[in-house]
Amino acid sequence: MNKKDILLLQESERKRIAEELHDTTVQDMVYLSQQLELVMLYMEKDLTLAKLETITARKQIKHIIGGMRDTIYNLRPMIFDDIGWTAAWERLKKKFAEDYPKLEIELDIDMIDTSDGLTALSIYRIVCEGCQNIIKHSKASHIQISVKKTGSQIKILIKDDGIGMQEYDQCPSNHFGLQFIIERVKALSGKMKIASDHSGTKISIKIPMKAGE
Ligand SMILES: Nc1ncnc2c1ncn2[C@@H]1O[C@H](COP(=O)(O)OP(=O)(O)OP(=O)(O)O)[C@@H](O)[C@H]1O
Ligand SMILES: [Mg+2]
Repeated sequence: MNKKDILLLQESERKRIAEELHDTTVQDMVYLSQQLELVMLYMEKDLTLAKLETITARKQIKHIIGGMRDTIYNLRPMIFDDIGWTAAWERLKKKFAEDYPKLEIELDIDMIDTSDGLTALSIYRIVCEGCQNIIKHSKASHIQISVKKTGSQIKILIKDDGIGMQEYDQCPSNHFGLQFIIERVKALSGKMKIASDHSGTKISIKIPMKAGE
């Protein structure tokens, strides 16, 4: 990757973080502020209603804290040191089940040496990005994810049974996700293939393993 690519990747990641915070935390805080205004209004007229609104506001604060925790978790690069490789995938699966109960996710993840944090983290982020796209665009009901060690390679598969990729404008400034995946794969000297039709999308990635992994 040259310097310009690195800068572009950094900028696109910042844009995502800003968007994520805007769509979750900021929106939630706006809602909370409106709830508190209601509490103030009710306090003068109806204490029971004021109390009920306060309970709702409290729930809202807990929800915001949960959202902030997720954002921080996604930002912190050392998740595998903290909770371990397997636990990180379990967490992802659990989060999926909670947030998208109708979407079935099948995970088959081999143990990978995570001491070289970058390879492991890149794989994790690539899969997360692939999943985000599936949620956002595919209308799939089933996702299959695998990360397998075979010979001197790590093979990653991100597959869905959705509508497939439609024509989209190729302007990179509007679409960062796939570019992000491509750049990460390139940085790991890997190769990537996308196959997509009306029965779904399949992203296959091969990454060479370094000695000792
Ligand atoms: N699994 C998928 N199923 C269907 N369409 C997909 C899938 N993944 C990507 N796409 C299509 O490819 C386009 C490009 O994806 P990409 O992740 O680069 O951008 P985006 O998701 O539109 O925006 P961003 O990732 O920057 O928030 C999407 O807009 C969507 O049309
Ligand atoms: Mg995307």
